[in-house]
Amino acid sequence: MRITARLIVTLALTAGLVVGGATYIQLRTERGRLVEDLERRSAILAESIDTAVDPALFTRDRKKIQQFVGKFSNRGRLSGIAITDAKGDVLAATPVLQDEAATVIGLAAEALKSETPVVKFIKFKAGEQHAYTLALHSDEGVVTGSLIILQDTTHVHARLRDVWRNNFLRLLTQVFLIALVTLFVVRWDILAPVAQMAEWMRHQRAGDDSEPSPLPHTDLFGPMAKEVKTFARHLSVAKTAAEEEARLRQISESLWTPERLKDHVKMKLGGQPLVIVSNREPYMHRYKGREVEVIVPAGGVVTALDPLMRACGGTWIAHGAGDADWDFVDKRNRVRVPPEDPQYTLRRVALSAAEENGYYYGFSNEGLWPLCHIAHVRPDFRPEDWTQYLAANQKFADATLDEIEDQESPCVLVQDYHFAVLPRMIKERRPDARVALFWHIPWPNPESFGICPWQTELVSGMLGADLMGFHTQYHCNNFLETVDRTMECRIDRERFSVIKEGHLTAVKPFPISVHFPGPDRDKAGDPSVKVDKPALLKELRTKAEFLGVGVDRVDYTKGILERFRAVERFLDKHPKYRGRFTFVQLGAPSRTHIQRYNQFLAETDAEADRINWKFKASDWRPIVYLKKHHNHKEIEPYYRAADVCMVTSLSDGMNLVAKEFVAAREDDDGALVLSRFAGASRELADALIVNPYDIDQAAEAIRYALEMPAEERRTRMRRLRETVKENNIYRWAGNLITELTQIRPEPRPGVHSA
Ligand code: G6P
Repeated sequence: MRITARLIVTLALTAGLVVGGATYIQLRTERGRLVEDLERRSAILAESIDTAVDPALFTRDRKKIQQFVGKFSNRGRLSGIAITDAKGDVLAATPVLQDEAATVIGLAAEALKSETPVVKFIKFKAGEQHAYTLALHSDEGVVTGSLIILQDTTHVHARLRDVWRNNFLRLLTQVFLIALVTLFVVRWDILAPVAQMAEWMRHQRAGDDSEPSPLPHTDLFGPMAKEVKTFARHLSVAKTAAEEEARLRQISESLWTPERLKDHVKMKLGGQPLVIVSNREPYMHRYKGREVEVIVPAGGVVTALDPLMRACGGTWIAHGAGDADWDFVDKRNRVRVPPEDPQYTLRRVALSAAEENGYYYGFSNEGLWPLCHIAHVRPDFRPEDWTQYLAANQKFADATLDEIEDQESPCVLVQDYHFAVLPRMIKERRPDARVALFWHIPWPNPESFGICPWQTELVSGMLGADLMGFHTQYHCNNFLETVDRTMECRIDRERFSVIKEGHLTAVKPFPISVHFPGPDRDKAGDPSVKVDKPALLKELRTKAEFLGVGVDRVDYTKGILERFRAVERFLDKHPKYRGRFTFVQLGAPSRTHIQRYNQFLAETDAEADRINWKFKASDWRPIVYLKKHHNHKEIEPYYRAADVCMVTSLSDGMNLVAKEFVAAREDDDGALVLSRFAGASRELADALIVNPYDIDQAAEAIRYALEMPAEERRTRMRRLRETVKENNIYRWAGNLITELTQIRPEPRPGVHSA
């Protein structure tokens, strides 16, 4: 029942009870008064009759008595009189009582026995009567008879009925008024302010912090409104605090930093050092004349893993390829790096020229590299290279086993295609080691991979690892297909794993990334962020308004020729950019002992030359090709000054240049043209994605990069930066290590628990 109805019913019942009680008392009083009046009248009448009738009674003169009685028969409410003798026999009676002889006799008998008058209400056919009966006495006090006086009581009942009716009507009026007043009071004084307050609270809940409009009847709701306002204020403060906390938690949860990774690794590895194995070392000591210089070799593995090792510490095992490397190691071939601020140990592995030729140049880079990159360069597989590949892998395995000798269930992260058989070599000797192999280059389809004469040995060696990582799910799928076609084993496609001879290898994508500069360097508008583009170009002896940049090892997979041709097409199609757009290619010569690489270096050089010759101008060059190794510090100004960065790989596992460029653009400016054949294109959807073989499309992408609205360029770059910031190298390592440490290590042979 609604509050109003409940209130009305309650008030009406209360009024009913009060009126009922009052009516009852009033009725009793009124009835008493009327009966008393009847009695008094009867008594007066009786007294006068007693005196008057006494002589006739004495003589028992019936006639006289009857005459006398007849005189009183029509007086007001008097409805009858009867007189009896002392025995109770009726001497005279008015007509009403003549018909009721038995009643009269009964009344007379009662009165004759009583000293006082007998008063009764008696029902007659004519209606209820008030009977007043008393004994009559002679002057001497002798009972001479009895007198019965009947009075009509109709007026008493009428009066009492009036009382009932009047009180009932009063009650109805009261109930009506109560209902009306209650309705108004509840409606205007209670429900309206409550509704107003509820509406305000609803707005508060929806986030509107405005003040409530003043409530009527502040006496009634004032204290409550005050409390509710205080409550809402507290709630709003708590809500803001909770939102802020959630935001901070989300940021800290989604952002991986070196510190977070360090803690994570410490927790996951329980203080054990991390061991990384790669072919390329992160710091190379080289003679430059008589001086020794330290260079950081170009390439994705070093770019990605150096920040990780700086954060976590541990040991990095790699080929000591620098001609001055051995002057800087201890007797266990170790050196602390980075040289200017040592944070981890580099253990160098020495390879003979034959090993380097067969394992690195031969099998790894003339066999596996073109095999995995679909760049239309024919792989060469030579048995002697394979032999060296196995020998070199064993050498690295021995160095690794030596490093992990004292560790229980160590974690070893093996890098890349140089070490396909290394995981099995480690696991055969140390089944308790948890080994991951991360494949930094693409994995082709099974048909392409199937041309390798040692595909079974390679795949079997890889499956020695507990975890196989690739950059993309596509490469994982290709790998599982290859395993399926190559050997007997069980493939769990739901959990992406391979079980071979009871050993499980999980196969998962881990898109690698770069270090993203911290907030201290993230201030757009900071003058240090801006680079003097004209000065940079002046140093290169060219003038231009717009700058394009490419940064690569000079490798046939990188699409450098296609990029140059796209620049040429762009200038052909849009002559207004001649003299205004220069493309700077920073190309680190790579693997130049390999004929194809050597040729490729010459081809790219010739192509740049041809194009420059075509658009020959005195103070402008369309392409500036800088064929030398550039360190990060040298590359950074180009990234920052570029209007467009071109990554046009024909096939690429990830390509970290794309991510480095994005990470360097603290000004949220610059456009990225990115090949759809680079793994990075899966993540960096806000780049201008191109098919590098489609020269027209790539040329058009350059034009659009330069002409797109500034706001669009910034929006794209902001989104790209968000992606790289969140999915940085620390997240990659964190995820990889989490996965690896979830593996239950097998027991170490020869070591039994007590
Ligand atoms: C790619 C490979 C790396 C390699 C790098 C540089 O990124 O995945 O393993 O280190 O190229 O090549 P290089 O042969 O000079 O080490």
